[in-house]
Amino acid sequence: MSKFLKVLIAACVIAGPVSAGTYGLGRTATSDEVKAWDTDIRPDGVGLPVGSGTVAQGEEVFADKCAACHGDFGEAVGRWPVLSGGHGSLADDRPVKTVGSYWPYLSTAYDYIYRAMPFGNAQSLSSDEVYALVAYILYVNDTVDDEAFTLSNENFLSVEQENAGGFFMDNRSEVEYPKFTRSVCMDNCKDVVEITARAAVVDVTPEETAAAAAENSTTNEEVETVVVEEVAMPVLNEELVAKGAKVFKKCKACHKVGAKAKNSTGPHLNGIFGSAVGANEKFKYSKGMKAAASEGLMWDAENLRTFLKKPKDLIKKTKMSFKGLKKDKDLDAIIEYLKSVSN
Ligand code: HEC
Ligand code: HEC
Repeated sequence: MSKFLKVLIAACVIAGPVSAGTYGLGRTATSDEVKAWDTDIRPDGVGLPVGSGTVAQGEEVFADKCAACHGDFGEAVGRWPVLSGGHGSLADDRPVKTVGSYWPYLSTAYDYIYRAMPFGNAQSLSSDEVYALVAYILYVNDTVDDEAFTLSNENFLSVEQENAGGFFMDNRSEVEYPKFTRSVCMDNCKDVVEITARAAVVDVTPEETAAAAAENSTTNEEVETVVVEEVAMPVLNEELVAKGAKVFKKCKACHKVGAKAKNSTGPHLNGIFGSAVGANEKFKYSKGMKAAASEGLMWDAENLRTFLKKPKDLIKKTKMSFKGLKKDKDLDAIIEYLKSVSN
């Protein structure tokens, strides 16, 4: 059994009020072992050893033992953690969280540095060195500005951390839970149900299904009926999709596609192929487009072709001011591309 585990078990036995007896394992930890293990420093100062160090002393130790990773002024070398700066950045999109800008209690800095640093040689620093290092970190964070400043167990609690007020007790039970605990509608929740797309046009069934079903030559009539009704759609022609993506440059000024697509001059075109005309609830269509929508017009290949060749040929009063694609091969390509940008 490792020495650490033994000490730990011994410590648990000492500390555990529930199990007064022993388990016949290990031995009582010596007071030195308990002292070596019991290094935590609490925000209220409990645990701080007697000692002191100045900013200037800290600077020397830091240059010697810390700067190789954390930089001369705690600004960090490469991707090692920064220890200074980031002041006032906590509400930014990319907050910089350092001992100075983020840590609410200075005791954590003492505790952490003694416990874990320098990386690879933890717990090798004397109390005076740790006080000096913490003083230096305060200095590079502009919390103190005098190189002669001495930090000790006596004035430790008088140092105020910038973000001391930024942490508070978990208050989700009052603030968040009420927001999320309400009764949720489970049936008849929508007044009107509208059909916005038809499966035959949307092409939700992979092409293999028809072939596979035929191959299995099932006796189940229902399946056969489905096969007959199914509109066989070709699998996407990737080459054509790629050409279509180029043609789409002509549309980009007004239409967006992809995960973050939003409506702009024109509606976003995700999932447009096979959908109903004018079905984007957030877009303000022209009267002409609305009229076509109310007639139940769908964006199948034929309608798209007519529209994109000359918008007004399909919808007379559309406000899409685009002169149209002249070449058939561009039309083929753009339609294939629109098929590929699904919801
Ligand atoms: C070999 C590189 C290296 C050296 C030398 C080193 N550190 Fe670190 N330090 C690290 C790494 C890595 C972490 C992050 C560890 C983690 O997140 O588990 C870190 C984290 C820290 C943090 C916490 C930073 C934060 O915001 O989470 C402090 C404070 C710190 N080091 C202080 C020191 C001091 C003081 C010394 C010199 C006594 C020192 N370090 C020496 C690599 C190093
Ligand atoms: C100058 C801006 C502009 C350009 C360029 C443009 N469009 Fe449009 N598009 C619009 C507007 C505006 C509408 C809405 C029309 C309406 O409400 O009458 C629209 C509507 C559409 C619709 C119907 C959308 C729906 O929700 O029913 C499709 C499909 C479409 N455009 C495809 C294209 C394609 C493909 C291209 C490129 C080849 C293109 N558009 C180029 C502005 C543009």
